Amino acid sequence: MRFKNRIALITAAANGIGRATAAIMVREGATVIAVDNHQGRLDEAVPALRQVAGGSGGKAEGRLVDALDQTQVDGLVAGIARDFGSIDILVNAVGGSTVIDKPTATTEQLTLADWQKLIAFNLDSTFLVTHAVIPVMKRQRSGKIVNLASIAGRGLSFNSSSAHAAAKGGIIAFTRKLAHELGPEGINVNAIAPSVTLTERIRPHWEKRTQASQAEEIERTPMRRVAEAVDQANVICFLASAESDFVTGITIDVTGGV
Ligand SMILES: NC(=O)c1ccc[n+]([C@@H]2O[C@H](COP(=O)([O-])OP(=O)(O)OC[C@H]3O[C@@H](n4cnc5c(N)ncnc54)[C@H](O)[C@@H]3O)[C@@H](O)[C@H]2O)c1
Repeated sequence: MRFKNRIALITAAANGIGRATAAIMVREGATVIAVDNHQGRLDEAVPALRQVAGGSGGKAEGRLVDALDQTQVDGLVAGIARDFGSIDILVNAVGGSTVIDKPTATTEQLTLADWQKLIAFNLDSTFLVTHAVIPVMKRQRSGKIVNLASIAGRGLSFNSSSAHAAAKGGIIAFTRKLAHELGPEGINVNAIAPSVTLTERIRPHWEKRTQASQAEEIERTPMRRVAEAVDQANVICFLASAESDFVTGITIDVTGGV
């Protein structure tokens, strides 16, 4: 039971990788504060998360918060610190390439507005929630922060724009620098870099691709499949658990070897 009595704040928790991570943590005893900006998804996800607790003592609570709104985020974190006394784990899962309507645009096709939207969606959300949580974790002299980068920030991204690559490369650099700042405070900061993962958001994009394009993606993946959300969640949980206490500042590729 790796997360017994741990308080975990997970953003983008009503769907996809965030939700799969929340499910593992609840099953292993955590109290998960599931943050999302979509009420309908939270209404569906939170009862389902409570169901997986079994006899673990794990709990789930939902919070309707926009991770891009500093006032809402600061209020969220102050409320959790007051009501639960600690925040042991932060998973920053808000982000992605599809927040603009032409995710595969070339740099020439991108507008400044597209660029700023992608940077804000991935980097501002991660910065704002982390910024609010740091004082709480410093007071505890412990904490685990896990950020969501992407293969797009690592090497070549075939399915997203340079703005998305820049944002996710930014997450990797932010993770490294933050680990340097917070290591002396007993706080670990790491990230994962997923490849294509069939979450609710990405599945329709995957299904729109031609069979040849899907086959090409699988062919360049040594494990010969694309990821499911649980593949990513398992590695996030490793980085959020005591099993990785001497690991900080790194980004783990969860890409089937791409
Ligand atoms: N799915 C992939 O193929 C893939 C690949 C690489 C990296 N990632 C990264 O993993 C993370 C999660 O992706 P996913 O595919 O699981 O996402 P998803 O779209 O399945 O789930 C995202 C959730 O975030 C919520 N959300 C959106 N904007 C929000 C905001 N401003 N505040 C709070 N909640 C908000 C949505 O309502 C949704 O429930 C992202 O950072 C993404 O870049 C995903």
